[in-house]
Amino acid sequence: MGSREEKVRPIVFSGAQPTGQLTLGNYLGALSHWVAMQEDHDALFCVVDLHALTIRQEPEVLREQVLSLAALFLACGIDPEKSTVFVQSHVPAHAELAWLLSTFTQMGELERMTQFKDKALRHRQNVNAGLFTYPVLMAADILLYGTHRVPVGEDQKQHLELARDVALRFNNLYGPTFEIPEPFISKGGARVKDLQEPTKKMSKTAESELARVMLLDDAQAIMKKFKKAVTDSLAHIADDESGQPGVTNLLNIWGAATGRSMEEALAHFSHNQYGKLKVETAEAVIAILEPIGRRYRELNTDRSYLWEVLQAGAAKARERAEGMMVRVMDRIGLPLERQRFRG
Ligand code: TYM
Repeated sequence: MGSREEKVRPIVFSGAQPTGQLTLGNYLGALSHWVAMQEDHDALFCVVDLHALTIRQEPEVLREQVLSLAALFLACGIDPEKSTVFVQSHVPAHAELAWLLSTFTQMGELERMTQFKDKALRHRQNVNAGLFTYPVLMAADILLYGTHRVPVGEDQKQHLELARDVALRFNNLYGPTFEIPEPFISKGGARVKDLQEPTKKMSKTAESELARVMLLDDAQAIMKKFKKAVTDSLAHIADDESGQPGVTNLLNIWGAATGRSMEEALAHFSHNQYGKLKVETAEAVIAILEPIGRRYRELNTDRSYLWEVLQAGAAKARERAEGMMVRVMDRIGLPLERQRFRG
């Protein structure tokens, strides 16, 4: 952490859950921006395995998915020389700070979280307290590192607002302690929709396989899914999100995958039929995902390298997190053990 240049780089933190494979939505909304931001930020990227526990997991499957998600981060272009890549449960301060912050978070605030309401409906048999306090753990993840920017998809915006509110509340009570994090939500890729029900977000849990493109889908599967994507019977291509959600979604995906704006997407496709929009969108996505799949298959077999990366990442993250924990505990009035007190 020595050089001066490094000290002034803004801090970026983000994470993804090791629950099943990632979707194209995860990539366009989040991971593609992580890769870009690591170039000029002090970046930390985390496999948030503690968050995944809010839904019942098979121990063997979870263990495997934590490692394969780390491999996927690297395959997408996260460079462990530039970014700190680690597993949330390797840094106990996440859970520790989450407890402290839960005492600065109101029940009413958590009750308003739309993701909690949705998940509580979908998992009626297991509406556990962790599902409810999930956003507090997420606030802890972010605030532990003095994070300036958090690149996420649109669906995480409300959680980030809560993290900001909690940080402000704490700072007002105890003096400046936490950085107030800014969401970084891209224009194009932040709301990738389900290909079968394009008013819903593309998610790992959609029932139909055709609804989502997975990062490790092969070219044939990707082409098939886009060809079968639901559009409408209007037979014209315009940016009318409420009237043509399926078409808007494809335009959005094509734009995000090729680095073009919605205006450029419209100019490119406006005199064409849906068939061309679907095929070109699939081709743009295949061009991105094919090399990711190739790198993933190499990396995921080299478990000793992955462990090396994750251990080095955890050591760096633990050290940074400890500095913040000491500060927070001290402010609140928790007596610090001598070995913990490092000034
Ligand atoms: P998760 O694991 O559900 O998703 C990882 C990232 O992918 C984004 N995303 C999408 N973006 C665009 N379109 C979509 N259809 C789409 N689906 C998912 C998500 O917004 C997210 O950025 N709670 C978080 C993980 C988390 C976290 C954090 C993120 C835990 N702590 C601290 C940032 C900072 C989650 O469940 O993401």
